[in-house]
Amino acid sequence: SRIATAADVADLRRLALRRAPRMVFDYVDGAAEGELAMSRSREAFARVEFRPRVLRDVSAVSTEVEILGRRVTMPVVLGPTGFTGMMHRVGEPGVARAAASAGVPYTLSTMGTTTAAGVAAAAPGGWNWFQLYVVRDRARNLETLSMARQAGMDVLVLTVDVPVAGARLRDVRHGLTIPPTLRWRSLLQAARRPAWWFDHLTGEPLRFATMDDAPPDIAGLTNLMFDPSVTVRDLEWIRSAWDGRLLVKGVQRVDDAQQLAAMGVDGIVVSNHGGRQLDRAVTPLELLPHVVEAVGDRTEVFMDGGVRTGADVAAAVALGARACFVGRAYLYGLMAGGEPGVRRVLELLRAELVRTLQLLGVTGVDGLGPDLVRLR
Ligand code: FNR
Repeated sequence: SRIATAADVADLRRLALRRAPRMVFDYVDGAAEGELAMSRSREAFARVEFRPRVLRDVSAVSTEVEILGRRVTMPVVLGPTGFTGMMHRVGEPGVARAAASAGVPYTLSTMGTTTAAGVAAAAPGGWNWFQLYVVRDRARNLETLSMARQAGMDVLVLTVDVPVAGARLRDVRHGLTIPPTLRWRSLLQAARRPAWWFDHLTGEPLRFATMDDAPPDIAGLTNLMFDPSVTVRDLEWIRSAWDGRLLVKGVQRVDDAQQLAAMGVDGIVVSNHGGRQLDRAVTPLELLPHVVEAVGDRTEVFMDGGVRTGADVAAAVALGARACFVGRAYLYGLMAGGEPGVRRVLELLRAELVRTLQLLGVTGVDGLGPDLVRLR
């Protein structure tokens, strides 16, 4: 099939473009304003230069690594993405199953189209994490946390880079609504993607798991729901309401990382939300080594933004990341071919990582360090 023969994630992205409606593809593929933050994240990976060691025995390699005290098959976490059921009918349960079978964590978003219980039931053997956006209704936050905990989730990812919605201009131009609606001007396009529309119109209506009657546009929904007054003080009640591990995602400065590390968070995700929030925000791969140097001995440092290949993962780990979160990479697979598409993405990332380790002359992820890489 086209999924099995896809040579890399870029192939799956091209396939996704043909299978999902343009406005759905653009919701995933796009970013905020001029999309500079997103393209810079990719450019930073293009500037990576490897400095391989030769004449090392690389006949046996392992991609395993320990994250938050637990072994996983590779330094990759499937990051939280909203409205995943829109990309393909199989939605969050399909992604969680693919993650579980590949042995990597999956993070369910507050903006998911499946409940925490639904994800736990779909992937009971997986390591399922939960991502929180603090909403204005504080009682609701506590309810959401306890639902995640009851579903067995033991890692909370608190996302802090969305005080207000970013301006995703592709969505504005398409007039994207949740769920997407068929309009006269998109009929021709829909006729070329009958499978998606068939599934969408005949399946269970796409429902937003944590709110009943939401405004149909994402920015409107975000601004109505999310609390823009959140500060570091809120970490205290979140900490006390959550007895699992706590990561803070969306850290973009060394001083913020230091403050969070001093507060004892279990991890920090250096991220600019894939360029979907503040355009021209700092490039995560470039900031990463500075954050690692400042707090890497006190807390686990993760990164995301622009990771599309196993070589990208190797580069980020060499620059100090404990692991990378991925967003679009697995969503391209999902749009291209549902759960098997996500499985293929994870298979590709793993094979690329194995090969990169071997060509770098190391036999494990622990062998990756700053002497093997530089940014040109
Ligand atoms: C996201 N991201 C995101 N992050 C989060 O904390 N909660 C969320 O609900 C979402 N939703 C979301 C939807 C879509 C379609 C995308 C593409 C991204 C951000 C995501 O977790 C991650 O930070 C970025 O996707 C990383 O960049 P790459 O891997 O997509 O380049």
